[in-house]
Amino acid sequence: MGNSMRREKRMLLRKNHPTFLKLSSVFFFLIFSLIVYGSAIDDNQQHEQNNILKTRLMNGKTLTDLQGNAINAHGGGFLKLGKYYYWIGENRHNDILVSCYRSTDLINWEFRGNILSRQSSPELDKANIERPKVIYNEKTKQFVMWMHYEYNNNYSYARAAVAVSSDIEKPFHFLKSFRPFGNMSRDCNLYKDDDGTAYFVSAARENYDLILYKLTPDYTDVQQQIATLWAGGHREAPAIVKRGNTFFMINSGCTGWAPNQAKYAYAKSIAGPWSELKNLGDSTTYHSQSTFILPLQGSKTTSYIYIGDRWDGKYYFNSKYIFLPILFPTDNSMELNWTNQIQPNLKTGELILK
Ligand code: GAL
Repeated sequence: MGNSMRREKRMLLRKNHPTFLKLSSVFFFLIFSLIVYGSAIDDNQQHEQNNILKTRLMNGKTLTDLQGNAINAHGGGFLKLGKYYYWIGENRHNDILVSCYRSTDLINWEFRGNILSRQSSPELDKANIERPKVIYNEKTKQFVMWMHYEYNNNYSYARAAVAVSSDIEKPFHFLKSFRPFGNMSRDCNLYKDDDGTAYFVSAARENYDLILYKLTPDYTDVQQQIATLWAGGHREAPAIVKRGNTFFMINSGCTGWAPNQAKYAYAKSIAGPWSELKNLGDSTTYHSQSTFILPLQGSKTTSYIYIGDRWDGKYYFNSKYIFLPILFPTDNSMELNWTNQIQPNLKTGELILK
């Protein structure tokens, strides 16, 4: 068949078969999409393959450390030491309980070690450690870790626990697990104020109340039970930050691994009175649960990052992380919107959103 005959046949086909036209356009659309998709393979993945530093934090995607391993630091806390940000959180692999990562840009994280394990203490042999948080005590020159302690795969112990170390990257020495002033203690967090006073907040009375405690000067015990917040409110996953002279707390409802509506409140003094709780973000907090609020102070501004866990209740190790900028429409209000990725600028304090 000559070329011209073939062309004629194709023309005829198109004329008589409109479906041919449709199918061929679908085919070309698919090819085009594949090319676009291929070239847009997650930049971060590409960077990793090429061993180049990543440039932004991707929300809801698997975050990997500099060795390319998934970051295991759920229910985590953050603290800044010199040029490094440290990220400390739950690691449930094998006998590990808590892991430590550090970063100079909040995007590229280097694994620094497992700082609490089942071998750290006989009390930890069958323990379940959740939401570990670390602060530094200038007087004792020790890092102090508080956490939620359970034993034997159920949540009936409902205790707080404390461990210390003189080096944040080295194994912590486990001190004790206990119920503060006899109260049950589950989801928890720490807050260290500018004057060095530190506070522990945790869910008590079968998670019906949140109780706030002032810590002893060495941070290893509770000194005073300061306030019972939203009694009967059934809130957990607390995280506290101070902006100017206003304290804010974000917390969640109690629905286990399933996400729910986050709420926030504010207070002029950490002891209260605290405002009513108001909704934050959407009805599932963009499928996440609060774990920390990280202030990012720079030359231009101070940004506040909401950090949450996107739990996978079926397969814990598939859980992800969410980093979202918190907006403050007024001095007493917060707003949280979804963004796929953020690019913190540690110099200026800005969070460039993409
Ligand atoms: C959540 C809690 C998590 C974990 C989970 C287990 O309510 O915030 O830290 O304990 O329950 O179901």
